[in-house]
Amino acid sequence: DWTSGNVIDEQVARIREQVGTGRVLCALSGGVDSAVAAALVHKAVGDQLVCVFVDHGLLRQDERRQVEEDYVASTGVRLVTVDARERFLDALAGVTDPEEKRKIIGREFIRVFEQAQADLVAESADAGDPIRWLVQGTLYPDVVESGGGAGTANIKSHHNVGGLPDDIEFELIEPLRALFKDEVREIGRQLGLPEEIVGRQPFPGPGLGIRIIGEVTWDRLELLRKADAIARAELSAAGLDNEIWQCPVVLLADVRSVGVQGDGRTYGHPIVLRPVSSEDAMTADWTRLPYDVLARISNRITNEVDDVNRVVLDVTSKPPGTIEWE
Ligand code: XMP
Repeated sequence: DWTSGNVIDEQVARIREQVGTGRVLCALSGGVDSAVAAALVHKAVGDQLVCVFVDHGLLRQDERRQVEEDYVASTGVRLVTVDARERFLDALAGVTDPEEKRKIIGREFIRVFEQAQADLVAESADAGDPIRWLVQGTLYPDVVESGGGAGTANIKSHHNVGGLPDDIEFELIEPLRALFKDEVREIGRQLGLPEEIVGRQPFPGPGLGIRIIGEVTWDRLELLRKADAIARAELSAAGLDNEIWQCPVVLLADVRSVGVQGDGRTYGHPIVLRPVSSEDAMTADWTRLPYDVLARISNRITNEVDDVNRVVLDVTSKPPGTIEWE
């Protein structure tokens, strides 16, 4: 019989046996899967686990705080945060091509992660003792997709937190490999993780970097963070979190249109709302959100976010559109 309690007991026993006294590393993304995987491993081996959270500057509002405070408070995991915002922004300067952005973000992530690992090994009492185990939040659909999902592989280079190069010789711990997302959420709740983390909708590894159409700059990220926070708050307040799969909020940074606010002419950027319904993100339909919710989001964004004077709705299914714009 499947119960979240059974799965937890089984996995905890198995992980203990697997790693013995060895040290374990986990890259936390802020997403549900890595958060639950890490919490499970922490339950099994305590402080033999160290989590690394890379702040690449492409996060949404409040994400870093959620991981640093709420997640640590509810699990007690040992967490190292690496502030790599400048590094990522420097690497992305002048880049507008979506695939190039994705590759740069993936590459920089690996470099930062490797550095964090080297620092941890160097500073430990048994210096030089390598960290052999790596936790990954791989789910059953991920396993199936990477087995036969060649169709999507060429469309976008999905930056995967676990996509580490071959020359790092980790052995993997993947305690969620047999599970679906809703089961993972249930296990997370059972382990005491806060709803803000367990209930999160999918968010891409490259973050807001692929939701700014055009060059990624700090000012644009700040603008998009505000718009995104407003959309998320209004969708939640309307009780729609479970109706939608996710709702990317996209900044068309290279587009301007004429508007009028107060007595004056404006020449600002459009924000795109991309609410989608989906079973597995392979296909999707645009979600028919209530007009009054759309109106509230639009009013608030144009009133509260400087330099945005227009909000538009993406009414494209997948295919032909992908969920993210880049
Ligand atoms: P697309 O845009 O390909 O997105 O229709 C399908 C789903 O995948 C998410 N996505 C990503 N997730 N790393 C991730 O971890 C990525 O590079 C990435 N790109 C897209 C997207 O948010 C959607 O849920």
